Amino acid sequence: MRSSSLSALVSIVCSLLLHSRWGTCQQVPADANTACRGVVSGTIPHPTDCTRYFVCWQSTGVAGQCSPNFVFNPLVMFCVHQSQYRCPMEVTTVEPEVTSSSTVEVTGGTTPGLCVQTPWEAHFCWNHASELIRNPVNCTQYIDCERTPQANQDCPPGKLFSLSYQDCFPGNERTCQMEPLAGEFCDGKPAGSYAHPYLCNRFVTCFRGMPRLDTCPPGYVFDEARLRCVHGDVLECSSLLGGD
Ligand SMILES: *[C@@H]1O[C@H](CO)[C@@H](O)[C@H](O)[C@H]1NC(C)=O
Repeated sequence: MRSSSLSALVSIVCSLLLHSRWGTCQQVPADANTACRGVVSGTIPHPTDCTRYFVCWQSTGVAGQCSPNFVFNPLVMFCVHQSQYRCPMEVTTVEPEVTSSSTVEVTGGTTPGLCVQTPWEAHFCWNHASELIRNPVNCTQYIDCERTPQANQDCPPGKLFSLSYQDCFPGNERTCQMEPLAGEFCDGKPAGSYAHPYLCNRFVTCFRGMPRLDTCPPGYVFDEARLRCVHGDVLECSSLLGGD
């Protein structure tokens, strides 16, 4: 039991670390129950197909599939648009788009204005997959591509923009790193599960004063009132989206 959970943990850590070299580290079996053996709860990536993942509960597993054009991003533990995460292996179920420098496909009725004066932000919004995109030079800013004209926006002070979550979270402006969970998070709290301070698909379980970071399966978010994961999209938690 101990050694099997240890080897499962090694497999997960291994597959999470080896982003670019999955071929040399295929210890996670492709069968959900085998992959989840020894994993009490959590979501783990599929070893060879990045559009899939396994949700483990009490050491049994259920295979999950991201929507078309979405891939499982193990860093945030949910499915993100394929333009937002480079798969460590080829996506087998979705044909990669053919991009050629000689053919520029224009879809929709409006031709991007070559003669019309556009704001500099519009350049970055071309071909964007999400409403808000990173400002490429400043992690505290994002570009709202749905606005007309497209506009560069500031996160609230002390916060950084997250592309996957489409939201601003506490972080260090110098290093562009999101703020980690405080070690004393559980101090003075009774044992139990608590909403993560800012990531709505994650939650913290306190036991004997020690925090453990847990993740809801893709397609679920943590409900603070019911203290469990419920169906929901992380983008619906965004404080920046859905304003108008
Ligand atoms: C990023 O933008 C913020 C807000 O406008 C600004 O205060 C900060 O100096 C900028 N950081 C860099 C590295 O340009």
